[in-house]
Amino acid sequence: MSADGERLQKVLARLGFGSRRVCEEMIADGRISVNGVVADLGRRIAADQDMVELDGVPVGVKPGLVHYLLNKPAGVVTTADDPQGRPTVIGLVPDEPRVFPVGRLDMDTEGLLLLTNDGDLTHRLTHPSFGVEKEYIAHVEGSPTRAALRRLREGIELEDGLTAPADAALLAPGVLRLTIHEGRNRQVRRMCDAIGHPVIRLVRSRIGPLADRRLKPGAWRPLTSDELRALERAASGLTGTPANGRGRRS
Ligand code: URA
Repeated sequence: MSADGERLQKVLARLGFGSRRVCEEMIADGRISVNGVVADLGRRIAADQDMVELDGVPVGVKPGLVHYLLNKPAGVVTTADDPQGRPTVIGLVPDEPRVFPVGRLDMDTEGLLLLTNDGDLTHRLTHPSFGVEKEYIAHVEGSPTRAALRRLREGIELEDGLTAPADAALLAPGVLRLTIHEGRNRQVRRMCDAIGHPVIRLVRSRIGPLADRRLKPGAWRPLTSDELRALERAASGLTGTPANGRGRRS
């Protein structure tokens, strides 16, 4: 164990897990591990190197990592560089430190996009086996029938295979809420095409536990430590989304 570094309870308290006293209790209760080993009280860590977990869920303690939630407007591409010179999501967030989008939204899709320099979290969030839920509001041509909604729920045969069951609800005539946990290219648009109701406007309204109706198009904000924790939890495959309590590990 390193004699240098910061006391574990101090790091945890700074991240919003409670007072130092509360964090000490969590350590004493054996709920915290460092690099896979249950931590003792008095443990010091190097926050830029050590991997800390609470109840088996990694907590973001590494300094230098940033996590932004952006409300992507339509007409902006989800790439770092666009050869055609179109505006990019990277142009909407600070230049330093350099961040990357987690997954992608089509140029015409609006809504929530996560950008981060946290490669490990990105990997886990985009890994299909963890299936973090993504919720979309789709304005479509016409208004899907109950049978069409059932097809969305049960899975639709697309050219790259059958889609996993989705949650689908009609919020108003021609307005669908679709929740999927795959990340295939243009998936929602293709699913809606397949039921004969092409998308007119598509907005991502939730990524796992992250939602924000007040974030204006083009605006971004850092995740709160609660949000980051909830996201880490969702990406760990443990109980996923406080929004509906139906976390999954597929
Ligand atoms: N599904 C789509 O069709 N487009 C997106 O941008 C995201 C999901």
